[in-house]
Parts: sequence; C-alpha cells; structure tokens
Amino acid sequence: MTVTFLMDGKEVIADENKTLLEIARENGIDIPTICFHEVTTANALCRICVVEVEGQRVLQPACIVKGASNMKVQTRSEKVVRARRTILEMLASTMDLSEASEIQMMMYEYGASSSRFPDAERRESEIKDDNPMYVRDYSKCLLCWRCVQVCAEDAQYTFAINFDGRGFETQIGTFFDRTIPETSCVLCGQCVAVCPTGALKPKREFLLEKGISPQEISVLNTGRKKRK
Ligand code: SF4
Ligand code: FES
Repeated sequence: MTVTFLMDGKEVIADENKTLLEIARENGIDIPTICFHEVTTANALCRICVVEVEGQRVLQPACIVKGASNMKVQTRSEKVVRARRTILEMLASTMDLSEASEIQMMMYEYGASSSRFPDAERRESEIKDDNPMYVRDYSKCLLCWRCVQVCAEDAQYTFAINFDGRGFETQIGTFFDRTIPETSCVLCGQCVAVCPTGALKPKREFLLEKGISPQEISVLNTGRKKRK
C-alpha cells in the first residue's frame, strides 16, 4: 500500500511503512539527524529531526513517524528551524561538542549560538581509559543511545553498557560501574563506530592525539619492541 501526501508543498507517494525521514530522503529533502542511525532502532531521543505536521499540536520526530495519506508536512518551517536551533544550543551549553563535526555543521547551518545558555550546568566526566581498545569521555556524550543499541539487540547482543543514573546525572555506564574488561564486552568496536561525538574513541587515536608515536604505541600494545 502506498500513501500520498504533501511534503514542503510537493506531492509525495511512498510506501505506507516508511517514516517521514525516509520519505524526505527519497525525495531529496534534507532533515538533520543525530540519534538516528541506519543500523540502529530509532527511538526519537534527540528531536533534531522534528517536522511540522498540520493538525498536530507538537512537532513530530521524522525518524519514527510514518507518512500517511493527506498529511501536510513542513520540514523547514519557522517553528521547526527554531526548535532545531534551540536543541543545538542546549547541547552546546551542556556538553563538549569539540569533536562532533556533524553537529558543529548543523550549528552553523541553523545559526545556533553556543553561548545562548551561559548559566547551564555542564556535564563533566573524567576520561575512562580501562581497556586496550577504546577510551570513553562522557563529557562528549549526548545520550543518543546508539552505542547501547549496537551493544544489545541491534547488533552484538553483549549488553555490556546501558543507561546509568537518572535525570541530569544520566550517563552511559556498565553494571555496578565495572571496568570494561570486567563486563561482557568483547571489544568489537561497534559502539565506537556509531558514536557521533567522539565520546568513544579508538585507543590508538587517543594516544596519537596525546603525541605518543606509533612505535611507542606498538610497544604499549605488545609490551615489547618489534623486531627490526
Ligand atoms: S557514548 Fe557516543 S554513541 Fe554512546 S550515547 Fe554517548 S554520544 Fe551516543
Ligand atoms: S534523529 Fe530523530 S529524534 Fe533524533
């Protein structure tokens, strides 16, 4: 079954099971995403993808809402742009976006100011360096949940990490805050691959950025020098 409706004033025809995000992309309309990833289940956590649907009181997250016949959708109305700008400004006020290049580009595109909420409390966290594969810097985490999902049913089924804490204190963690080697983690690296902000980083990249040479890293990894 197909549905027919208006998106930005243009008639679109799509499969009834497709989301507004998928339909927009099929029709060359750009809707920004942060928590959404092609390989993970969409949970509409970040709300950057919101669009205006006529007759709906609140903006709708395009990554989970399906298209329906006779809908009238605006993907870049004034209300939508304002909402996206505010979301970006709240993120910039509370976390470290220095390595989130896609979000930085969105901030530029939407004219978002990183100093709009100067009194906002920042989410600070010490770098967790407890395994040979990756480091975790939750000062850069926006709780998109992608890493948790690939670690669970979306890919790896290892369930090593999950949400921990409540409200503002919420962060990604391990059971009883154990180190990664003490968890079920198999160091597959899929969480690192889907992290959009640099909160999860390969250990090698982390060490290179600290100025440690590839030779020294090799010694650190093997515990001995390579034979010439
Ligand atoms: S660590 Fe990265 S992937 Fe995991 S929730 Fe935070 S930002 Fe998302
Ligand atoms: S991308 Fe849709 S809510 Fe995050």
